[in-house]
Amino acid sequence: MSTFEVSAAHPAVSRAASIPPSCLHDVFRSAEAWERANHRAAIRLHVGEPAFGPPAEAIEALGAAAREGRAAYTSAEGMVELREALAGKLATENGHDTRPDRVFVSPGSCQGLAALMQSVANPGDEILLPEIHWPIHLQQALLAGLRPRFYPLDRDFRPDLDSLAEAGGEDTRLILVNTPSNPAGVVLDEPFLRAVLDIARRRRWRIVSDEAYEHFVFEGEHVSMASLERDVPEEERLVHSAFSFSKSYAMTGYRLGYIAVPNRSAADALRVVQEASIVSPPTPVQHAGLAALGVPGAAARNRDAVRANRDRALPSLVAAGLLGRVPPGGWYALLDLASTGLDADVFAAELLAEHGTAVAPGRGFALRPIIDANCRVTGLGQSPRSHGLLRIAFCGDGDLLAAGVERLLAAAHGGRA
Ligand SMILES: Cc1ncc(COP(=O)(O)O)c(C=O)c1O
Repeated sequence: MSTFEVSAAHPAVSRAASIPPSCLHDVFRSAEAWERANHRAAIRLHVGEPAFGPPAEAIEALGAAAREGRAAYTSAEGMVELREALAGKLATENGHDTRPDRVFVSPGSCQGLAALMQSVANPGDEILLPEIHWPIHLQQALLAGLRPRFYPLDRDFRPDLDSLAEAGGEDTRLILVNTPSNPAGVVLDEPFLRAVLDIARRRRWRIVSDEAYEHFVFEGEHVSMASLERDVPEEERLVHSAFSFSKSYAMTGYRLGYIAVPNRSAADALRVVQEASIVSPPTPVQHAGLAALGVPGAAARNRDAVRANRDRALPSLVAAGLLGRVPPGGWYALLDLASTGLDADVFAAELLAEHGTAVAPGRGFALRPIIDANCRVTGLGQSPRSHGLLRIAFCGDGDLLAAGVERLLAAAHGGRA
């Protein structure tokens, strides 16, 4: 499905130009082309766009800030009032030992994650990514000049701790942990995160903890990794955390996230990247974020809506043997077509062409780039495990989700889409 062709490493090819576009953008384009050709909407299970919207208070605050001229640049770290509110939330809700000058507001957690990768390590350093990962993490690592290595996941897509203890090498500086995870909806509990933290401490890795889906845990509770080192002296802390308003408050297009860094040196480095990258996060949007944080129960209501979707539509996929279990968290389920013998790329293309239902094949979540000395991509492999994998989002409209799952099941059972 990808239109990307690996450019032979010509000296004039920049690192950015050598990096494959995200598979998700490919599916987006295919779905749009299908809709234009068929003059109707496709069922969009490929994208994590929620059926619910931002709190009315956030919308109002955005408009009011723009109308009233509260829209000048803020500092690169973001508005003081918002960072104070976020530090309070991180302390009370996530158990962090933090303060406002360790918190950076970013235009989406995606930008914050990219900035972190630039600020925490040096080009040429290695970063450990999960073998099945959000493709943007890989792009971010490559853009920062980091050399990706991949740690194995077990059958349930959780990090395999024995292999993790042996993963990486002398140049490994960083590990990315994502809970609840995209694309598999895995939730890592406290003992598990402690084990990862112990390995990281032993191996002297820093940690990037992507917690964009923190409010979408359906079984148990979200554990924020930085809470596990609240009693460690600041300069010895390893965890850098990323959070988002996009999921918790359905503010996807507002572009608002935040980063919590463990100590002053991390803050100093990140500030430089943010000064150079964004100057300031968008000010009216920060006012909207402040208002959203003040709405009691907003994130919990959104979690309940996504859980209801999950419980309505996904059990049939488990019964059909396409999904190991309903995901304990997140917005996505990672199906495995292995039992049908179908190839996920072919299946996804046919499901869209013949049934107007867009899903994301797993290949793009499991790329294995071959890179040269300048960290330019010169070839692309993929994890062998990904051939039958297919991601669907279950955060959208419940009726459309149910209809899309029905079409998917019919297509899979028919042996063809
Ligand atoms: C795992 C993960 N992290 C981070 C993000 C980025 O979210 P945003 O930039 O909208 O805050 C996403 C978005 O889909 C995601 O899936």
